[in-house]
Amino acid sequence: MKNKRSSQWFQTPGYHGMARRAWLRSEGYPADVFDGKPIVGICNSWSELTNCNLHLRDVAAAVKRGVLAAGGVPLEFPTISLGEMLMLPTTMMFRNLMAMDVEESIRANPLDAVVLLCGCDKTTPAQLMGAASADVPAIVVPGGPMLAGTFKGQRLGSGTDGRKLFDLYRTGKLNDEEWSEVEGCIARTSGHCTVMGTASTMTSLAEALGMTLPGSASIPAPDSRRMANAELSGRAAVEMIEAGRTPARILTREAFENAITVLMALGGSTNAVVHLIAIAGRVGIRLTLDDFDRIARKTPCIANVKPSGDFLMEDLFHAGGVPAVMNRIAGLLHGGCGTVNGKTIGENIAAARPQNDEVIRPLNGALSAEGGIAVLYGNLAPNGAVIKVTAASAALMRHRGRAYVFETRDQMMAEIDRDDLPVDPDTVLVMRNCGPKGAPGFPEWGHIPMPKKLLEKGVTDMVRISDARMSGTSFGTVVLHVSPESAAGGPLAVVQTGDEILLDVAARDLQLMVSPEEIERRLLALTPPPRHYDRGYGRLFLDHVTQAHLGCDFDFLMPEVIK
Ligand code: FES
Repeated sequence: MKNKRSSQWFQTPGYHGMARRAWLRSEGYPADVFDGKPIVGICNSWSELTNCNLHLRDVAAAVKRGVLAAGGVPLEFPTISLGEMLMLPTTMMFRNLMAMDVEESIRANPLDAVVLLCGCDKTTPAQLMGAASADVPAIVVPGGPMLAGTFKGQRLGSGTDGRKLFDLYRTGKLNDEEWSEVEGCIARTSGHCTVMGTASTMTSLAEALGMTLPGSASIPAPDSRRMANAELSGRAAVEMIEAGRTPARILTREAFENAITVLMALGGSTNAVVHLIAIAGRVGIRLTLDDFDRIARKTPCIANVKPSGDFLMEDLFHAGGVPAVMNRIAGLLHGGCGTVNGKTIGENIAAARPQNDEVIRPLNGALSAEGGIAVLYGNLAPNGAVIKVTAASAALMRHRGRAYVFETRDQMMAEIDRDDLPVDPDTVLVMRNCGPKGAPGFPEWGHIPMPKKLLEKGVTDMVRISDARMSGTSFGTVVLHVSPESAAGGPLAVVQTGDEILLDVAARDLQLMVSPEEIERRLLALTPPPRHYDRGYGRLFLDHVTQAHLGCDFDFLMPEVIK
């Protein structure tokens, strides 16, 4: 048995070794517990402010059983948690803060391995970023999706169906009583959102990266198999110590290409683009938007899950989960990538045949021949922008229309229901000052609601463009992550109401149909917006956050090799 990291703390002769053992024995451990047994940290993002992760204390108890059974010592510790529904201005503002908390908690403590308990959107990438930088053996245990609620006989996909029902409420087709009923049933159990939103996408990609046991991502939160999976993960964490299986050995470029391929096959969240770039950056791998577009073009979208499809995560679980999706696209994957259980990803998915062709479509019956996300460039987005093609309208994939510009989200919210808003179905809604520095924090404001006057005429989609993100549960012809953002002097800052904009997804083109000289003249006249923070974490964020196409990590957390 090789020397363990924790021995630096507990096998030190003299006072300090005694004191560390003594103070931990105050938790009720006998003398032989710290005599060289592997110490496994359980990094818990449980919080009553993060409803999606509320059951993670129970999950931690199951992990502990596994660690103990394998001869290890489990020590659970909290980190900050990021609750998507409550945090303002947005959880994205704090993803890097949580990543720093996770990294330094691992590095500063006597841990030989760590089990990462996550669920709600940003908790998964934050833990992966922190663990990747700390590079101690790490395994992810997702909390799993919630069970679907039912309203008037319809199973509800949290997020996606809530937005659709809200449009009915806004236009008087649902009354207050019915709207209250929706509130009571749309999030009816513990667990994260049950569509292929950002939470389900990121836990699925943790699995595709090889950072979970096979099948971990889609087990519903209340299902007993969630606890069995947690116990097995605790055992695996102990084995990983002896094998020296650290994140750096698992998170290779090929593993990230697998994750991008799975993202496209799942019709996953656009947020995954930002998060995967950031996680890869922590291990010195430079992913670019072009990697996503290249892989999207050759990967069919086969997971028929909302918002791109019809079913829910629960259905994906019964159809075989992520391993079955990966089995179906095995020819597009790097099968030799290592995973936390010591087997290759190819070995892990070899027997995972899909159980339901409606939910996991065959390759010749894919939802779309190309993956769910396209990357756009043009004079409106010199460093790129993204669009979730599978959640957009086919009729708007090539569209030319006149802009109506909202300077801020507040202005948009104040105007969007106006009966005299000067827009028609061909208008392109533009919203700026919603990016990492401008909003601040890069919130999920990009799904600009449809103007009420158009909804009342039965128009349900139009082209919308912003430098914001969008919830993975959202849908529509929505161009996001425009980079550079307007607050950093990007061309989005100088679009004027009435300018023509061309969107051509097949050509990957996003153009402001204004002469280069006029754009230059407007940019020279631009006054930057006031900064949002002068002190504290907000100031650190504004001073160091990178733009969307670079993953929005802090520049000082990225290794020199990829700066
Ligand atoms: Fe937590 Fe949707 S609110 S995953």
